[in-house]
Amino acid sequence: LPPLKVAVAGCGVVGGGVLARLLSDPRYDVVGVLVRDPKKVRDVACPQSLFTADPAVLWAKKPDIVLEALSEGEAGHAVIRAALEAGCDVASANKQAVSRDPGGLQDLAKAHGRRIFWSASVGGGAPMIETVRAARAAGEVVGFEAVLNGTVNFMLERLGDGAAFAEALADARAAGFAEEDPSADLEGLDAAAKVRLLCHEAFGRSPEGEVPRDHLSEATSADGGVRQIGAAHLKDGVIAPSVRLTGEHGDPLFSSLRGEGNALKVYGADGRVWRCRGRGAGRWSTTESIMADLAEIVRARRADAGLN
Ligand code: NDP
Ligand code: HSE
Repeated sequence: LPPLKVAVAGCGVVGGGVLARLLSDPRYDVVGVLVRDPKKVRDVACPQSLFTADPAVLWAKKPDIVLEALSEGEAGHAVIRAALEAGCDVASANKQAVSRDPGGLQDLAKAHGRRIFWSASVGGGAPMIETVRAARAAGEVVGFEAVLNGTVNFMLERLGDGAAFAEALADARAAGFAEEDPSADLEGLDAAAKVRLLCHEAFGRSPEGEVPRDHLSEATSADGGVRQIGAAHLKDGVIAPSVRLTGEHGDPLFSSLRGEGNALKVYGADGRVWRCRGRGAGRWSTTESIMADLAEIVRARRADAGLN
């Protein structure tokens, strides 16, 4: 196959990692990088001519694949839809974009004969979507509990060690774990989007309405192994989701998590439990997850072309 034409949306913590990987791999031809400010100095060596703030410039290059890592949900959703409509396969890390209507995006991809993956949007480098999918393939899933936000987990550990709130937050931002607007982490919006995506995998639908959320603030006590737990359980056919700060999660899988660690437990109707854990945030763990989705896309495209 000739090199695949790949466009990248976003060149921050995640998009920059993805771009660096693509530029060093001859199997890929990077045709454009969508950003807000094409003139910004980047931490990735990339020809300046590839940067654009205009999505139309990206589509004019006719990419085969779009890897999306924008920090804005609405803009990301628009880029993903436009990419699928233009006949591109898509991988996204943007949970605010894909959690809006995951089924609708999958239908749109199917209608255009394309594929969409979002492994990186939940759990960073931890294979959470894959674990829920495996559990569901084995039988009915009745619930899950998870530490889903690396920033909050990192901050709880730092606060427990006596750090000031502002210092813990500044460290999480400097490490590249926090969202561009970190209130999404602190107010549980990031974890809630991930709960919605895991519900889509576990139950084939998202919960109705808002996910109730606890906020991490200076008033939060980090004593007693408190963790932020994103969960959803099926009760009489109704999905009950939540994002809670609690010390009563009763599992060393969660209390032993350090730094940006994330972990998941999935409950089957037959009593079986599936678990996974890994690095939930950060440039390289998340980049690897997107690259795994890209490898999946390439395998499928080769199969379509009768090459596998
Ligand atoms: P950053 O803030 O580091 O980067 C965001 C990028 O998006 C920037 O390059 C920015 O452009 C670009 N951007 C934002 N809005 C627009 C827009 N409207 N049009 C064009 N470009 C835009 O974010 P991250 O890389 O940390 O995160 C990216 C996505 O990945 C988010 O959705 C996040 O939730 C998700 N994610 C992040 C992880 C992490 O550990 N950081 C882990 C897993 C998922 P410019 O540079 O010009 O400002
Ligand atoms: N801000 C997110 C977190 C990034 O801290 O978990 C990973 O999705």
